[in-house]
Formats: sequence, C-alpha cells, structure tokens
Amino acid sequence: MQVLETVEAMRAFAAARGPSAFVPTMGFLHEGHLALMRAARAHAPVVVASVFVNPTQFGPNEDFERYPRDTAGDLEKCRSAGCDAVFLPPVSAMYPPGHRTHVSVSELTGPLCGASRPGHFDGVTTVVLKLLNIVGCRAALFGEKDYQQLAVIRRMALDLDLPVQIIGHPIVREADGLAMSSRNVYLSPRDRAGALCLSRGLEAAAQAFGAGERDPRVLEATARALIDATPGAAVDYVEVRDALDLTAVEAPLTRPVVLALAVRFGATRLIDNRVLASG
Ligand code: PAJ
Repeated sequence: MQVLETVEAMRAFAAARGPSAFVPTMGFLHEGHLALMRAARAHAPVVVASVFVNPTQFGPNEDFERYPRDTAGDLEKCRSAGCDAVFLPPVSAMYPPGHRTHVSVSELTGPLCGASRPGHFDGVTTVVLKLLNIVGCRAALFGEKDYQQLAVIRRMALDLDLPVQIIGHPIVREADGLAMSSRNVYLSPRDRAGALCLSRGLEAAAQAFGAGERDPRVLEATARALIDATPGAAVDYVEVRDALDLTAVEAPLTRPVVLALAVRFGATRLIDNRVLASG
C-alpha cells in the first residue's frame, strides 16, 4: 500500500494505475469507513482512500483542533481493508496560500445539518471536488450515515458533470445500534448509553410507519419522545423530509422519506437517519 502525501504523487499513482474506486475520510477510522473501503473493490481494480481532516468544513466553534487523529492506526486499518493507496495530504497541500474558490450547492444544503452548521457543506463539496480531481477515480463511495452529505455530493456530481459514479453505502452500527462515528470517542459512559436514543427513536418511528402512520409530524414526535426522555440529550433537529431532494413533506406521505436527526450530548453532536418507504 502506497502512502502519498503530495498532489503530484497522488496524480502520478493514478496515471500509472488507472481509474480507481475512492473512499474519502477524515481518519480515526472505524468499521463504517472500512466497510466502504472493502465495498470499493467491487467498483474498480484499484482502491484509494484519503485521510484529511478538512478545516473548511468546521465552523469557528466546532471541533477541528480536537478532532481525533491517529495516522499510524489509520494506515494500518487501510492496509487491512485492502487499500492500494492512501492520500494523506497536509493542509498546505490542499489549501495553499491564495486559495479562493469554493463550491456551493444551493437548497439541499439549507435544512437539517446545514441550518446548524453554516458553511459546512461548502467546505465538504469544495474538498470532495478537489479530492475527486486529484485522485482521478471512476467511482467514489460515501456512507448513508451522512445522508444529507451524500445527497449534496450526488447533486454536485450531476450538476458539474463529474465523470465519477457516486455510490452510497448503508450505515454501519455498533452491536447495540449506535451508528459508528469517529466522534463517539468523545462520549462519557453516561452519554454513550444515552446515545442509543438516536437509533431507538428511529426504530420507534419506523415501527409506527410500518403500522401505517403517514403523518410526518407524528413520526417526528415519536422519535423525539425517546430523545427528550434521555438525560443529557438535546435535540438539534428531528425531521422527516423527501428522501431524494430533502424538501419538506406534509401528511399523508406518499413518496419515500428520510427521518433524519441530530442530537447533542454536551459539545458532542451525533447524527443518524432512517429511510421510510412503503412496499
Ligand atoms: P468522515 O466522517 O470521516 O466519513 C468518511 C465516510 O465514511 C463518509 O462517506 C461517511 O458517511 C462514512 N461513514 C462514517 N461513519 C459511517 C457509518 N457508521 N456507516 C457507514 N458509513 C459511514 O464524511 C466525512 O468524513 C467528510 O465530510 C468527507 C466526505 C471525507 C469530506 O471531508
């Protein structure tokens, strides 16, 4: 496995080895990331991952400085997941002095995480477009855990005619249901237990949907009740939205929707979601 730290080295690898399947990450890798890397193999003979904690997608009061990092451990995990190369650029290689261009997807970035993290998705789309251009992949894989991020990146790829297939991958969960996240390490034992309110809230709403409930406000309230009953948990949002374009929906639901939620435990913000579709 090659470790490439400059844009030039990454491009030279791509030129020599041909189009790849690519998994961009911010490191502190867990089974969710590794599942994407293993799945990437089905989409190209060469698998490339990147580890880059992207400063432009963090707000001024967010956790960029304290975001967990473990480069040696990450490289070992990439190797075990079968990556052929890891792109590991320093911030100066991605944002040299004078960088002025940003990519912004409208509408889709307004609600949900976009509402509480202004500028976040511009940072994501800018870095992802740069990474896709540098890596020269034919396919790129993203987790459905970051549902809005996946929708925004799909939109960008369509709108900018990117020659890259954007592939979604199901959420990977801990045995007890908590969606895996690099940020789970921040949780105290009490909050780690409380964090189950996210997946349990989604499950309760999915049960109600399965039993025929088609009022999005009732589904939201069903999930929210479990979260509100959890000590230390503060709802950021709990919303049912159109599964494709994330627009607001009213009763009665007829098309597939996503129930998306974000919950804070102190300074730690967790997200999760579930698609609700009949038939
Ligand atoms: P990061 O949070 O490190 O996640 C990298 C990829 O792994 C994303 O596509 C994310 O959706 C996926 N992922 C994380 N946890 C997952 C889980 N439990 N199950 C399935 N997939 C999971 O998302 C980012 O980094 C950044 O925004 C990035 C796209 C790399 C741009 O900087």
